[in-house]
Parts: sequence; structure tokens; C-alpha cells
Amino acid sequence: SGGRDVRILEVGPRDGLQNIKTLVPTPTKVELIERLAAAGLRDIEATSFVSPKWVPQLADGAEVMRQIRPLTHAQPGDGDRRFPVLAPNPKGLENAMKSDAKEVVIFASASQAFSKANQNCTVDEALAQAESVARKALPQGIAVRGVVSCIFADPYSGPTKPQEVEYVVKRLLDMGCYEVSLGDTLGVGTPYDTQLLLEYLLRDTPARLLAGHFHDTYGQAVANVARAYDLGLRTFDSSVAGLGGCPYAVGAKGNLATEDIVYMFDRMGVNTGVDLDKLVETGDWISQQLGRPNGSRAGSALVAK
Ligand code: HMG
Ligand code: MG
Repeated sequence: SGGRDVRILEVGPRDGLQNIKTLVPTPTKVELIERLAAAGLRDIEATSFVSPKWVPQLADGAEVMRQIRPLTHAQPGDGDRRFPVLAPNPKGLENAMKSDAKEVVIFASASQAFSKANQNCTVDEALAQAESVARKALPQGIAVRGVVSCIFADPYSGPTKPQEVEYVVKRLLDMGCYEVSLGDTLGVGTPYDTQLLLEYLLRDTPARLLAGHFHDTYGQAVANVARAYDLGLRTFDSSVAGLGGCPYAVGAKGNLATEDIVYMFDRMGVNTGVDLDKLVETGDWISQQLGRPNGSRAGSALVAK
């Protein structure tokens, strides 16, 4: 895609912000998305269409989508950008469609306890909701992406079996997801765990249908991306300034910082299409806006230079 060797899907405006207690003003969210797009990111998760009672921070999703229309409805040639939004159930899809979203994200946990905590239902019930979203979205030309959570462990019930991950991955692909992202929601997995799981999944599922979504609680996320890259994955989710965490995964820290993998890929000669300087500026800016330390190691180092 346009000379890019890897595709980085920026999740900061969604995964990054969803867990922040004080409401971030809508104009700040919009400016964040604009800055990320200007830094060269082509895939930016813009918001969620979930219950505002469950995730109050993203209750302004429709307004965010309205204000980023110049980006989402850009003229051909302005860059092939995509702004996926979370829509786990038909109500979410309905709202996403009112906002003219062209890509939705459906999700399910590989483990039962997190499914209950995050979506108030069993894994199979979440998959049934996801399937009804896919059934309605696909004929309208809306792309559907899947995410599976808790690939290594569940905050309530411990380790996840690779069979449980594979079950959700296959169901999501069967219902028409163009790709499924593998979420280490807790950020506990090591490169060794990543390799074992990927070797298991890749027996049956081509690498081009999989992406990595690593949280960085234990500082393993960059290493996990490097290992997954070596095993053939070419799409990774990350969050500017390492913002993030899931409100229903207590203790889980931020996402992998986008700056950290762009730095790594730049030094490997792997083209991400992202301008690291602009990205670092954006990470520094949003950290200041939110009054929190910059969670990106590469970002902090480069800002200090
Ligand atoms: P529920 O309370 O069981 O749902 O929640 P319900 O169907 O009984 O509906 C309750 C109320 O919510 C009703 O309103 C519905 O209309 C409304 P009321 O009659 O009480 O006024 N409602 C909605 N409103 C707006 N948009 C919707 C929607 N659906 C229902 N889409 C539900 C079930 C799934 C809705 C809820 O549990 C929920 O919203 N969960 C989402 C939680 C979430 O967003 N978590 C974070 C994202 S996942 C994540 O971060 C992991 C990831 O990053 C990967 C990784 O790291 O591993 C993706
Ligand atoms: Mg996440």
C-alpha cells in the first residue's frame, strides 16, 4: 500500500482515551486525529459506538465523526485514509452508520470472564452480536475488522488457551472480517508467548489476515511486535504517547506507543509511511493536553533532544 512495508493502525483516539476519567474536550480529540493524519497515519480508530454508560469518555463519538468529515470524506488523491470505529452490536452499527463510518470494528474476548466484564455477555453471545453487525455492514460496503481480546490471559481467570484464541479468530474471519487483530489486553505476553501463539494460529490462518494489538504493561510490547514481524505479521495497532488501557481490565497499562514502533521500523529500514518527528510532536502535545507524562520511550527521548 503506497510503498509502505507495514501498516500501523493508530488506536490512541479510541483505546488511548477510553479509560481517562476526566472528559477530554471534543476539540482536543478532533485535533488529535487531525495531527495523527498529518503525521502520515492512514488508519486511525476515531471513536467507539458503545454504551455511553459503559464508556462515558467516548459518548461524543457522533460529534467527533462530524468534525472530522473533511478527513473521512477527503477527495481521491488526498490519501487513502480509514477511520474505523468500534461497533460491537447492531445499535452501535446503527449509530456508526448515521455518522457515515466506512469501517467498523467488532470484538470478542477469547476468555469468558473478561467477556462478561467488558460486554456483559458470554463469548458466544458477543460473537452472535458481532455477526449481526457484520451481516448488516458488509452488504452496505462497510469494511469490518475483528479484534480478539485476552489472547494470553484474562484479568479475572488467568491464562488463555491458544485453542480459545483460534476459535474466536476463525469465527470473526468466517463472518467476513478482512483481518483480525490479536489483543493482549493485559499486556502480559512475552515474545516467547507471542511466538508460541502465532506458530499455533499460522498453521491454519495466513499472516496477512492477522494483526497485533499489544498493551505494554510489562514492557514487552515492542519486542512482541518485532517477533510477530519476523513471523510474517505486517499490521500492528498502537497508540500515540502510549496512551490507553481498557476500563474493564484493571491494572492494565497503556498501549504500545506508536512512536516506539515507528522508531524501531525506521531503524530496520522498514517503511511505515509515518513521519516520526511529527508523530513525536503529536505525542508530546497530547500528553501536555492531558497533563500526563509521555508514555512513549522513543517519544520522550526525541523530545528531550
Ligand atoms: P448491556 O448493558 O448489557 O446492554 O451492555 P443492553 O443491550 O442491555 O443495553 C443497555 C443500554 O445501553 C440500553 O439503553 C441500550 O440502548 C444501550 P437504555 O435503554 O438503558 O437507555 N446500548 C447502547 N447505546 C449506545 N451504543 C451502543 C449500545 N448498545 C446498547 N452500541 C454493551 C452491553 C455491549 C452495550 C456494553 O457492555 C458496552 O457498551 N460494552 C463496551 C465496552 C467497551 O467499549 N470496552 C472497551 C473496548 S474493548 C477494548 O478496549 C479491547 C481492545 O482494545 C482489544 C484489546 O486490548 O484486547 C479492543
Ligand atoms: Mg486495547
